[in-house]
Amino acid sequence: MHGGIEHRNGVLFVCLGNICRSPMAEGALRELAHERGFACLVDSAGTASYHIGSQPDPRAVAVAARHGVDIAGQAARQIERDDFYRFANIIALDRANLEGIRSRAPRDGTARLSMLMDAVEGRAGEPVADPYYGNEAAFEAAWDVINIGVEAWLTRLMRETASLKA
Ligand code: 4NP
Repeated sequence: MHGGIEHRNGVLFVCLGNICRSPMAEGALRELAHERGFACLVDSAGTASYHIGSQPDPRAVAVAARHGVDIAGQAARQIERDDFYRFANIIALDRANLEGIRSRAPRDGTARLSMLMDAVEGRAGEPVADPYYGNEAAFEAAWDVINIGVEAWLTRLMRETASLKA
């Protein structure tokens, strides 16, 4: 059983802790979709439970802020069963997260499960390295690669929506 309807332009980003990579992806897509006038439901979650309720890592908040995106208001949560029906797209930040998502997917879940870089020509399956144990430069590098993936996903989603309308 699950509640609600699937949001066709729904995107859930998933990493391990939901305090570094997926909050950056959530903020980046929300900002870019807003700039391009594309209505979508954007959220993020972790496969692990360690950080439930926490704000994003201060280093992730700082790198996003340097790029004009405010992610300080996010709170970490763990992926849950309803997510597989509510979001048309669940996008993992690395391979282990994708496997974690797959292992939790209900048999009749409707979400398309992908990795962030799958929308980028020639970079499908490429992981976003975990910056948690890295320095500020690792967070900047993660921000850059995340934004390449997010931009490509937005382009894909906008195209898919346009072809549905055509
Ligand atoms: P994230 O980074 O998956 O990008 O949020 C991590 C955050 C916390 C931990 C690992 C990765 N941790 O082990 O607590």
